[in-house]
Amino acid sequence: MFLFVTLLMLFSFMESQSEHLNLFGPEAPLVAVAGEDLVLPCFIRPNTSAVDMTVEWFRLYVDDSLVHLYKDHEDRNEKQAQSYRGRTSVFKEELQKGNASLKLSAVQVSDEGEYKCLVDDKSWSDDITVHITVEVLGSHPVITMESYDNSGGINLLCESRGWNPEPEVLWLDREGATLPAEDTQTHRDTEGFSVKRRITVYDYSDSNRFYCRLQQKHHMMETEIIINSKVFDTWKWAVGISVSACLIAVGLIVTAVVCYKKELRQVKQNAEQQRQRREDGQQKLRVAVEFKKKKKLFAVDVTLDPDTAHPALILSDDGKQVTLGDTRQDLPDTPLRFHFASVVGKQSFSSGRFYYEVQVSGKTEWTLGVVRENINRKEWIPRTPQNGFWTVALRNENQYWANADAAVSLTLREKVEKVGVFVDYEEGLVSFYDVESSSHIYSFTDQSFTKKKLYPYFSPRYNEHGKNSAPLIITAVTE
Ligand SMILES: *[C@@H]1O[C@H](CO)[C@@H](O)[C@H](O)[C@H]1NC(C)=O
Ligand SMILES: *[C@@H]1O[C@H](CO)[C@@H](O)[C@H](O)[C@H]1NC(C)=O
Repeated sequence: MFLFVTLLMLFSFMESQSEHLNLFGPEAPLVAVAGEDLVLPCFIRPNTSAVDMTVEWFRLYVDDSLVHLYKDHEDRNEKQAQSYRGRTSVFKEELQKGNASLKLSAVQVSDEGEYKCLVDDKSWSDDITVHITVEVLGSHPVITMESYDNSGGINLLCESRGWNPEPEVLWLDREGATLPAEDTQTHRDTEGFSVKRRITVYDYSDSNRFYCRLQQKHHMMETEIIINSKVFDTWKWAVGISVSACLIAVGLIVTAVVCYKKELRQVKQNAEQQRQRREDGQQKLRVAVEFKKKKKLFAVDVTLDPDTAHPALILSDDGKQVTLGDTRQDLPDTPLRFHFASVVGKQSFSSGRFYYEVQVSGKTEWTLGVVRENINRKEWIPRTPQNGFWTVALRNENQYWANADAAVSLTLREKVEKVGVFVDYEEGLVSFYDVESSSHIYSFTDQSFTKKKLYPYFSPRYNEHGKNSAPLIITAVTE
């Protein structure tokens, strides 16, 4: 009787204790990142050992639902769903603290859904539900230039695969403003969501930038495309050709084939021209960068030396400008004074590097460069390096010459407004630049200055009929 009462008391005690037990899990859905490990929490409170209990994890709303089973002190996963094989475990040491959480390794998109944690004792059982969302970042968006549009635009396609949840696809301009585009096409497979979105873009500026952005709640990915204005131009032209050529070919297969070939070749040529232009552009850029460095590092202040100027030359008071006057001034004929329309700078250079600029705007003729100090200043001699002159010249408004030992005719794309002169004494280099376009005009290389001083040299040339009256002006070098 006593034993019975004791047993009854013990039983009711256990019962009442079990009645107080509860399972707990996470309050909000869990967000997992594909590829990472995840712990699905599930624990008994107040904490009671679950070592002797059955812990079952299973999926809701799927056929093959067993995720993990712990029973009779061991894992019993014979009936586990295939997709969870080798990826699940319970924490054996934690079980004695009532912690029945599940570890799920290498989370996949297909793991998304609802899970039940069921803990079962002979006298008690409870269950909770855990909701899992798997966030997957898809592939980096790829932009394809699909075709040219008849309206003068270019059709672009942005594509990306493997997202979860479905991302938003946006087309943006360089300022980040959204551009109108076609509807997003979405496709779902085991990898997640695949998305595509097309847009037609137009020529807005010299270098058009467009962005395709894929956006999730917490993530974003972007790809940029830059379309040079020339690509639009090229296309307009190519479209023009193919359209007109093919119009003629309507109804005549042979001609149609010719037309087709012609168009292809045209497009190929365009590609070749573009490559060439790109290379030219890069070369120009290199020259320009070099040139700007020279300006910055080696600029010197040059002023004209009145004691060397031909008597008909008029120099400004600050020694920065020279032009040819109508009359000869009465000046002493010193050994340094030129007998032809020339003047040199006060500054001389016998080592290192130096750079200065001369404005030639409005002139039809000029000669500029550097000269050796011991040149013949009294008689007219050819202005060649051999005679100590390293100069370039303009004649007859548009003929540019480099006065090398055999004169070199220069073909310049634009009229030069300002000439930059750079000298590297040790290298034996005298270079001329078009300052406005930062482009190279001509260089004398591997010259020998025979250890003599070099002087900046200026000749405004003759002023026939007042056409060449504009002055040569030494300007301050600015970046
Ligand atoms: C029960 O949990 C508390 C805190 O959660 C802990 O301090 C205690 O050690 C646990 N008891 C057992 C028996 O594991
Ligand atoms: C259960 O065990 C896991 C693994 O050690 C741990 O991350 C988790 O915090 C534990 N939960 C509780 C409620 O103790």
